[in-house]
Amino acid sequence: MNVLRVIANPKPVEQSASLKIEAAFMAALQQKHPDAQVTTINVFQDDVPQLDALLLPAFFGAPPANAEIERRRDRQRELLAMFLAADLVVIASPVWNFNGPPQLKAFIDAIMVAGKTFKYTANGPIGLVPEKKVVVCYASGMLYDHGQPPQQTLTPMLTTQLGFMGITNVTLIGAQGQGAGREKAAATLAAAIEKAQAAAAQF
Ligand SMILES: Cc1cc2nc3c(=O)[nH]c(=O)nc-3n(C[C@H](O)[C@H](O)[C@H](O)COP(=O)(O)O)c2cc1C
Repeated sequence: MNVLRVIANPKPVEQSASLKIEAAFMAALQQKHPDAQVTTINVFQDDVPQLDALLLPAFFGAPPANAEIERRRDRQRELLAMFLAADLVVIASPVWNFNGPPQLKAFIDAIMVAGKTFKYTANGPIGLVPEKKVVVCYASGMLYDHGQPPQQTLTPMLTTQLGFMGITNVTLIGAQGQGAGREKAAATLAAAIEKAQAAAAQF
């Protein structure tokens, strides 16, 4: 099994609920699959180019405007290749201002490529990587289970983007309420870690 970890949190693991969930998931997964090939992209530490005026045409196939744009385009292709090679993608992200960090979005922008992960047909768009599985480990300060606005848009964004690429096997593991007091934070984190360990057994 090829596993791609997409770490979208700049904190050390001991200070981060989403990273603790991800670590618990990976530990359980690697116990079950000691031969799993694991690759890690840390979107804060590794180069994840952001689309801009010069990179955008190159992303769509135009000759790169200069050597630096060519390098950034090639790096985007490298990120796409890493994503395509993965059977299982594990994303760890905090909720920041109701979504995720912008570096995570830049990674998504690099992998959502027409002809590679989705395509347009006469009958509308179809996803090209339906066999992939994704686990999203996230944490938020607030609790969003009450059904009232405001709602976080991180997990709806990711499920929409992944769904567009044909990926329906998406497991969301969240520790909400990390800002809702020490007891609540500890309880939701413990429940999420348990869920992560149980989820790993499914793969
Ligand atoms: C810049 C920033 C923005 C945040 N915005 C939100 C938010 O919109 N909603 C929320 O529920 N929590 C928000 N939080 C709280 C985090 O989601 C919370 O601390 C969570 O535990 C972060 O995940 P981590 O522990 O894995 O770092 C924000 C935190 C930071 C630092």
